[in-house]
Amino acid sequence: MNSHFDQSINRAGTYCTQWDYIEDRFGSKDLLPFSISDMDFQSPQEIIEAINKRTAHGIFGYTRWNHSDYKSSITGWYKKRFSADISMDWVVYSPSVIYSVARLLEILSSEGDHVILQVPAYDAFFHVINESKRKLVKNPLLYQNGRYELDFDDLEKKLSDPKAKVLLLCNPHNPTGRVWTEQELKRIVELCSKYDVKIISDDIHMDIIYNGNRFIPITSVATEIEKQNIYICTSASKTFNTPGLGGSYLLIPNEETRVSFMRLLKYRDGVSSANIFGEISVIEGYRQANEWVDGLCSYLYNNMYLMKEFIEQELPSIHFMIPESTYLAWIDCTGLQKNNQDLKQALVEVGRVGIMSGEVYGEDRGVFLRMNVGCPQSKVMEGLERLKRSVLSLTR
Ligand SMILES: Cc1ncc(COP(=O)(O)O)c(C=O)c1O
Repeated sequence: MNSHFDQSINRAGTYCTQWDYIEDRFGSKDLLPFSISDMDFQSPQEIIEAINKRTAHGIFGYTRWNHSDYKSSITGWYKKRFSADISMDWVVYSPSVIYSVARLLEILSSEGDHVILQVPAYDAFFHVINESKRKLVKNPLLYQNGRYELDFDDLEKKLSDPKAKVLLLCNPHNPTGRVWTEQELKRIVELCSKYDVKIISDDIHMDIIYNGNRFIPITSVATEIEKQNIYICTSASKTFNTPGLGGSYLLIPNEETRVSFMRLLKYRDGVSSANIFGEISVIEGYRQANEWVDGLCSYLYNNMYLMKEFIEQELPSIHFMIPESTYLAWIDCTGLQKNNQDLKQALVEVGRVGIMSGEVYGEDRGVFLRMNVGCPQSKVMEGLERLKRSVLSLTR
């Protein structure tokens, strides 16, 4: 049966980063892109209709986020999807997740302090830590039998350094797709409390979860005291494919830091209005698009499944496991026995396809690709054919 996610919609000429500016990332035009993490799907109809209605009003003045419609849509979503109790008081608006991370680093640490990060990692984390003049301290994930695990011994060693001030966690994890379990989260909270290190948890991929896995907001495993050291930065933008609308939010149980954040936001950085369309997308999406998200997750899982079948049959020296979460396929190409540069060149020149190299995310223990499958199945299959042509050109 056809799904509305099967519909291919031309995005060319919409100023979209993924298609219109593919050359910026790969040095070549007209590649089939599987790069930046947004999707080729329309947002839920409920959001589109609400935006159309608001657009027809025609007045787009300063817009407030600090009201119960916005905040209760968020707490309602957490209850509905994660059975989690979030207080409305914790909710703070922010223009973007990475803005939130940058400001929190500023509030919670000083120049030269250590920020611990599990690697591989979303590349913007490297930049935000470096640009904030904090020291990036890597806690490499263990990679065993094709699966990534936290290395708690190494983590404890790094947390115990007096200069360690922040652990920047990504849950679910981009690019490996791990969803940290209750046990893992509890251990993280325990260790960070022991060494008085604050936790910033980027949960932006929280809604794209596959079969039997469960996303748990890290505040849900913490005591009231431990919550005071936890900062969740997240957004509905991955879920509803709305990053171009602007806006994200934080959950900050600690009142003092919440006030500091809001002061910086408004008085120093001059963010005195929410983006009205971003705000509407959160309120209406969280209130009405629950089933749409379930349908999205099933569709994306099927894309992952097709990818697994294709790789097993056509490219047996490549290793791919369906991730627990995210629409990002993390593909281990080490078995090809080629280096990153050769693979990149073959993808661009032979396959004419834009797939991110694992190097970008700091994975240097092999040759990896990160391929975005947030798109119609037909595009995934075309991308896989192009990947195959590229790989065959290298092994011939
Ligand atoms: C883990 C993670 N955090 C943050 C972002 C970006 O969020 P924003 O555009 O709100 O800063 C992304 C986008 O790919 C991401 O994967």
